[in-house]
Amino acid sequence: MIIALNNKCNLTKQEFLKYQEELGSLSTQNKLILCPTFLNIGHFDLKNVELGAQNVSFNDQGAYTGEVSAQQLQSEQVKYCIVGHSERRNYQQETDEEINQKIMRLLEQDIIPILCVGETKEEREKQLEKSIIEKELTIALANLTSEQKEKIIIAYEPIWSIGTGIIPTNDQIKEMFKNIKNMVPNNKVLYGGSANEENIVLLKEIKEIDGYLLGGLSLKPEKLKVFIEKLEN
Ligand code: PGA
Repeated sequence: MIIALNNKCNLTKQEFLKYQEELGSLSTQNKLILCPTFLNIGHFDLKNVELGAQNVSFNDQGAYTGEVSAQQLQSEQVKYCIVGHSERRNYQQETDEEINQKIMRLLEQDIIPILCVGETKEEREKQLEKSIIEKELTIALANLTSEQKEKIIIAYEPIWSIGTGIIPTNDQIKEMFKNIKNMVPNNKVLYGGSANEENIVLLKEIKEIDGYLLGGLSLKPEKLKVFIEKLEN
């Protein structure tokens, strides 16, 4: 299983250094990936965890003020990078076409994209969730060879679950995973959205889940430890 930790825009340098000490004592048979802010990437120093980023420029290096390129991430030994998180789609108006370009830039640098897809509450109420995810996957994965496509980790994150404490029913998750795996049968698919040390008991019954993308819980090493223990036992 993959457990990816999305710190989002949290942790100052000092807080990150302390946090890292706590994460360093986590032991797990699963793969842990930490995605800190860009500024904390240079302070990353863990042996039991792999390094990820939360975003990348869709351009190569050049005159793009404020951007960070895939080459730069590569030079910091970043192995994974989240793309298409709903917060970026929403606040930065990121489009599926831009996300496709970001995936290209990452693959050129041998960085594995973690592609987030998910529907809003309104879209689910209108029963559009399946078509939304199909559209997001189709455009984001356009023009990739099947070998490139298979490298990508997909994270299904219903937007109405992110940071809300509400998770879909197991049947809703299973149905969506079935749809996603029909489209990309050879890809790892994670669940993200309010996964925590309590609901993991329920979530782990879903055999289709290949791992988790954790936001809020990533900032609480003690609870994360309980999450991992419950997942593994
Ligand atoms: P959450 O965030 O676990 O706090 O809901 C997940 C995510 O946004 O990746």
